[in-house]
Amino acid sequence: MQEFHKVRRLPPYVFEQVNRLKASARAEGRDIIDLGMGNPDLPTPQSIVDKLCETVRDPRTHRYSSSKGIPGLRRAQAGYYARRFGVKLDPEREVIATLGSKEGFANMAQAITAPGDVILCPDPTYPIHAFGFIMSGGVIRSMPAAPDDTFLPALERAVRHSIPKPLAIILNYPSNPTAYVASLDFYKDVVAFARKHDIIVLSDLAYAEIYFGDEAPPSVLQVPGAMDVCVEFTSMSKTFSMPGWRMGFAVGNERLISALTRVKSYLDYGAFTPIQVAATAALNGDGSDIAEVREVYRKRRQVMVDSFSQAGFKVPAPDATMFAWAPVPEEFRALGSLEFSKLLIEKADVAVAPGIGFGEHGDDHVRIALVENEHRIRQAARNIKRFLASARGNLHNVIALDARR
Ligand SMILES: Cc1ncc(COP(=O)(O)O)c(C=O)c1O
Repeated sequence: MQEFHKVRRLPPYVFEQVNRLKASARAEGRDIIDLGMGNPDLPTPQSIVDKLCETVRDPRTHRYSSSKGIPGLRRAQAGYYARRFGVKLDPEREVIATLGSKEGFANMAQAITAPGDVILCPDPTYPIHAFGFIMSGGVIRSMPAAPDDTFLPALERAVRHSIPKPLAIILNYPSNPTAYVASLDFYKDVVAFARKHDIIVLSDLAYAEIYFGDEAPPSVLQVPGAMDVCVEFTSMSKTFSMPGWRMGFAVGNERLISALTRVKSYLDYGAFTPIQVAATAALNGDGSDIAEVREVYRKRRQVMVDSFSQAGFKVPAPDATMFAWAPVPEEFRALGSLEFSKLLIEKADVAVAPGIGFGEHGDDHVRIALVENEHRIRQAARNIKRFLASARGNLHNVIALDARR
């Protein structure tokens, strides 16, 4: 039987190859330190768990919930935007709860894309940004990931040379995997351009609260007029360490939110009500939970940058996110990020995410996630130091492992 049209467009997940290697190493009894997947290891704050338990005892919460999110939850998300960004949202028309931001993003793509629509997408980027649209029949044109002065010229070129004119542009700052952070001035330029050319802006703000500088990352919706063309996605997964709960939001332009609401009304009945109630309590909290999560990542980041660098693996300190985006050490560059990642598992018992999994422009890097404790991060650095010392002494053998040479 022929491969299905959609499935043919989804290449095997690159990360699966690393995962398989990791699983077989573990099956041999080896202790793999897993800095690969961006899966937060911190427990959800106790007060949020307690709220869930309390709510679930009421049998009325066991029925189908509301697809777009219970009113209190949407009000809480509007409250968060007002406090954190000074952005006023109508909870009825400009806010929808989603089953994690990934689901919201993918279904937004489904809601708005016609076959052949051109989408401007950063490379490297979190895979759903491209594949949500590819699954929806869209065509991707790659954009630089850095929010610097190369971006607007690339945007102008993209609009000049894309037929049809691009439907949407995707932004993700703070960015996974590169950890780039955008300024409000950058957003102003993009919004002005998008309004002029009538292009939709989809901003993924999953890492709004995981930042280490003095200034908190802005929202694109802070730009006056952004509401005309923008929707922004946020997530409780990282902010409150709730990845398994599947709770996120889309907020912004009413027409776009309404399109997503319509599609989702056909697909789901919303998250389990106790989850929505607990999420409401989390968002209405005083912010101390968020600050605690941020501090844990801040400390881990410092430990990682210091210990990895001392081990001979230079890792730039990320300004935000739970990831470091580390250049593959020069002498291993020719192997590519996947082979280097495999070597780290095989020889150092450390798993990282190969940059190629985020797009072809990611192949000189690996992404290192801060999802193990400080002690384990130091252990990873010691393992890597040993590996690098022996590999550097014996580099010809390592390079000989490169099947592509
Ligand atoms: C940039 C980005 N967007 C979205 C998501 C998905 O988050 P959620 O758990 O809300 O679906 C992630 C998860 O790693 C991410 O890194």
